[in-house]
Amino acid sequence: MNKPAGLSNFQMLATCPPGLENVLSSELESIGIYGKKIVGGIEFHGDLLSLYTANLWSRVAGRILVRLGKFKLFSLNEAPEKFARFPWELYLNRCRDIRVRATCHKSRIFHSGALCQRLVQGISKRLREPVNLVSHKEGEELPLVMVRIVKNRCQISVDSSGAHLHKRGYKKFSVRAPLRENLAAAMIIASGWSGTCCLLDPFCGSGTVVMEAILMAASIPPGRRRKFAFMNWKNFDARLWNQLLWRSDRLFTQPKCQILGIDRDPHAVESTLANLEHAGLSDFARITRGDILGTRRDTFPKTGQIVTNPPYGKRLRTNHSLVRLYSGFGQILRTTFRDWKVSVLCPTDAHVLRRAMNFPLRRSCTFSHGGIKVDLLTESWNKNPQF
Ligand SMILES: C[S@@+](CC[C@H](N)C(=O)[O-])C[C@H]1O[C@@H](n2cnc3c(N)ncnc32)[C@H](O)[C@@H]1O
Repeated sequence: MNKPAGLSNFQMLATCPPGLENVLSSELESIGIYGKKIVGGIEFHGDLLSLYTANLWSRVAGRILVRLGKFKLFSLNEAPEKFARFPWELYLNRCRDIRVRATCHKSRIFHSGALCQRLVQGISKRLREPVNLVSHKEGEELPLVMVRIVKNRCQISVDSSGAHLHKRGYKKFSVRAPLRENLAAAMIIASGWSGTCCLLDPFCGSGTVVMEAILMAASIPPGRRRKFAFMNWKNFDARLWNQLLWRSDRLFTQPKCQILGIDRDPHAVESTLANLEHAGLSDFARITRGDILGTRRDTFPKTGQIVTNPPYGKRLRTNHSLVRLYSGFGQILRTTFRDWKVSVLCPTDAHVLRRAMNFPLRRSCTFSHGGIKVDLLTESWNKNPQF
């Protein structure tokens, strides 16, 4: 059995949707965290400061998990005893309700529900008090433990983030099909935008791309406003955390570029404006109501960058209005925005829409959004793609 994680030395996993590992890895490196890519995340090693930094600063990660240990497990009978060896008192503190996610692959134990029960028995044994298993859809604030068995090797992790990290605490209002904030951030990073030229989202919806761009350009940590699960751990170092916040606040800078959003739906524009207001970021973006297909060239700077998530339907063959929209969008990209760099999110199998756009784009990454496989397409003249 591996040595259980101690108070200051952790094996961690920053999770992300499969396909975004390169983007997450380069982002983590930019905040001093170096690790190993695995499918769906980056494994890294570090102390409390790395744990807090990853949670506070990562724009792309979904969660930061702490690996408690890995051991061989062949039967449910031996499970409670083995689970009881971990220092649950550190992570549960006084809380006696927990959420568990269990998965079994290619192992003698194949019943994930029974595995959850054994984990609860093991934790109760260690704490000498009964612990309740709560559905993981209830109570995001409750501790979340992950147990995964692959080929009879059991890995236990505890979630340090709490609510999923895309929940920044900045956004209050939404529209249909909003992007998760971590996906919007991944799109902006993968597009290569450096925060120095104008960024436009011509299909801005509730403003997720716009808000993420402002947070980046202003060096505001995405986790500045929220709470994290590690704050309830016994080893929570409030002084270290406050120091980290204090240092991050000093990095704040006024964005040096224009950040623009357009949407033809008045409700979407209202949502974006209300979100910006709620986040105290209204001064840093200009949001207009309008149809991007009808916008005039002189309303935009000569160069800049488009990062966007246009609408797409599931039955693409029959959706003539979408084909017309993409065709018109391609046309204005070739004219009004011909000196701009372009990054567009598009379903992987939306060949009809891509053809309609008639614009040279190449795939920079593929991931899943709302259960649909999507590609981030960027202009193909970019000969030196980072990702
Ligand atoms: C997929 S949603 C964008 C969601 C957005 N990324 C978010 O996170 O909220 C697409 C948006 O494009 C807008 N839209 C559709 N056609 C448009 C057009 N011709 N001009 C401007 N906006 C348009 C819709 O109103 C919708 O809000």
